[in-house]
Amino acid sequence: MRTVSIVNQKGGCGKTTTAINISAAFASLGYRVLLIDLDPQSHATMGLGLDADAFSRTIYDVIAEPWIPVSRVITKTGIEGLELAPSNVFLGTAELELPGTLGNELHLAGGLADVSDEYDLCIIDCPPALGLLTINALVASTDVIAPVQAHYYPLEGLKRLLESVRILRERFHPCSVEILGLLLTFVEDRTVLSRQVQGRMRRLFGNLVFDTVIHTNLRVAEAPSAGESVLSYAPQSRGAGDYRSLTAEILGRWGIAEGVRDAGLGQEGLSILDAAAMAG
Ligand SMILES: Nc1ncnc2c1ncn2[C@@H]1O[C@H](COP(=O)(O)OP(=O)(O)OP(=O)(O)O)[C@@H](O)[C@H]1O
Ligand SMILES: [Mg+2]
Repeated sequence: MRTVSIVNQKGGCGKTTTAINISAAFASLGYRVLLIDLDPQSHATMGLGLDADAFSRTIYDVIAEPWIPVSRVITKTGIEGLELAPSNVFLGTAELELPGTLGNELHLAGGLADVSDEYDLCIIDCPPALGLLTINALVASTDVIAPVQAHYYPLEGLKRLLESVRILRERFHPCSVEILGLLLTFVEDRTVLSRQVQGRMRRLFGNLVFDTVIHTNLRVAEAPSAGESVLSYAPQSRGAGDYRSLTAEILGRWGIAEGVRDAGLGQEGLSILDAAAMAG
């Protein structure tokens, strides 16, 4: 199983939107996908049309205790091939309860071990902070995607994020997480600022930036209210096209030709050390 965290401590940059839509896109290709909602805001849970308050067991249980298997909190979604570990507001208290507990960064990695044969891909939607929840996600992950808003130049925040990933790799030995790519979101072809941010990001981070960009698109913003991914809500929209392209590009980065669903997803990736070096 490949595990991809969608991370950026900056709020509102498109993490949840990206998590939902690539999960749906991979499921539509026939992959078995688990989406983990690791944000107390529960936007991924709600965006799939589920009521966060209706679950007696959520990802909180996995984070709060060592070795609670994720399988205990998984629920089906309306999308075939996509299952969800939901969150609710109690997840926010986990960060207050756990500091000082030995090994508390490893709870999610431990909890995921028992489902690693059940899914091809696990996507983790992280909260907008580099706290204990995001650290649990990174330690459990093989890859990171960092969405970056194209109308805001986020260099300092990105450096912190890349540095955090590098430190976690050093500190936690089973952790070999790689930056799969930086994803430009809210791109508007006609605005100068959007083009400038794109240009600077590509000059500074080179191939680490996905070729695919996600344009600002009304259908993408509307889909969560319908409890759907943009791929089913508006399959012909530019937003759906962008997320299909991103999925193809991710498969390409893993060395898997589009449309070829093999026994699993490969393990190639760009080195975090290269990424941190690029960020200076
Ligand atoms: N490509 C897009 N076009 C238009 N609206 C978008 C797009 N991507 C995301 N949005 C909207 O922008 C808002 C923020 O997006 P999203 O919730 O995905 O960000 P986030 O990084 O998960 O936020 P948070 O940090 O609070 O978790 C949402 O209302 C979402 O519907
Ligand atoms: Mg979010």
